[in-house]
Amino acid sequence: MTDLRIGAIGCGYWGPNLIRNFVEIPGANVIVVSDLQVEPMNRMRQRFPQIEHAVRDYREMFDMDLDAVVIATPPATHHAIARDCLEHGLHVLVEKPITLNSEDAIDLIRVAEAANRILMVGHTFEYNPAVRALKQMIQNGELGDIYYIDAIRASLGLFQTKANVIWDLAPHDISILRYLLGADPVSVSTHASSCVQEGIADVAYTTLTFPNNVLAHIRSSWLDPSKQRRITVVGSKKMVIYDDVEPLEKVKIYDKGVKAIRHTDTFGEFSFAYHYGDVVSPYIRFEEPLRVQCQHFLDCINEGKRPRTDGLNGLRVVQVVEAAQQSLHLGGQAIAVSTNGHPQSQPEAEKELVHA
Ligand SMILES: NC(=O)c1ccc[n+]([C@@H]2O[C@H](COP(=O)([O-])OP(=O)(O)OC[C@H]3O[C@@H](n4cnc5c(N)ncnc54)[C@H](O)[C@@H]3O)[C@@H](O)[C@H]2O)c1
Repeated sequence: MTDLRIGAIGCGYWGPNLIRNFVEIPGANVIVVSDLQVEPMNRMRQRFPQIEHAVRDYREMFDMDLDAVVIATPPATHHAIARDCLEHGLHVLVEKPITLNSEDAIDLIRVAEAANRILMVGHTFEYNPAVRALKQMIQNGELGDIYYIDAIRASLGLFQTKANVIWDLAPHDISILRYLLGADPVSVSTHASSCVQEGIADVAYTTLTFPNNVLAHIRSSWLDPSKQRRITVVGSKKMVIYDDVEPLEKVKIYDKGVKAIRHTDTFGEFSFAYHYGDVVSPYIRFEEPLRVQCQHFLDCINEGKRPRTDGLNGLRVVQVVEAAQQSLHLGGQAIAVSTNGHPQSQPEAEKELVHA
């Protein structure tokens, strides 16, 4: 099999991580990089001399006999660039969020289908071994019934000027929650504050209700003294903390719980039986999640497979963010999440995703 020829669009903060992975993975060659600015492209070519071309206008890539592109440009540009590339017969890996509204995401899904090209979104955490281990624990019943999940993604920066913190950070946690629970949230309620830039929320509290009344909460912040990337899952049997900032023991399982026991002699009174057991950190073989994601993209191209995080997965996350955004405008009112409007040819993909 010949090596896949890749073009990388966007060499800012995140693009170089994608470029590094596609340079290092056997079976792919980064042929060309593109950015509106020359300096970041020069840095990439100095670091990876095997990159043959650097172009300011990504459309020059269309004459370079490429197989695929990876897009790490600002979210507002994703739809136009991804559409253009799909229409020119290229497979597309686009960073999260796939687009800034669901109409554009649906449009990309349709264009990809019509062109018979892979459309994949960079929901990196769904390729994270720790998140996958957590999903396994939930699926095999180790934690019991899931009562609630709490997600925190906070640090000082990086401040964005075109999209608020919900569009920037919450897509990661929404994609993790959907993946862990195998379902879409039913409703969403959001409160937020714009502390530093007028009109652009930099801290947001989003509450999601999933089927079976499983409650989830996401705190997203660019304005926090410490970097936190933490998910707490509380089940009827056990509790788990996944802390992505921890260098080694990222997942800890707490054999802890509490039961309310009704008194037999007095009606309606309870006592509480607390259980304190072991705290275990299971061994999870580390693999760079982005490497797993990039390899999956190449495998999907080579084997004609639908990506785990396909266009529909990207659309669902956008629909949740849209509901969160609407709730924010309505002072935190709970908004039903719409999962309508997806192309009819997609339900099989959804089934695979839910039961993955
Ligand atoms: N998966 C993750 O964990 C993760 C982490 C960070 C960022 N991201 C995503 O990556 C994307 C990029 O984020 P970033 O932080 O690198 O932004 P950035 O602003 O640092 O970089 C974006 C780059 O794109 C370039 N660009 C803009 N329009 C272009 C065009 N038409 N053609 C070519 N280049 C163009 C800009 O010049 C800039 O260098 C966003 O979608 C973001 O959400 C994902």
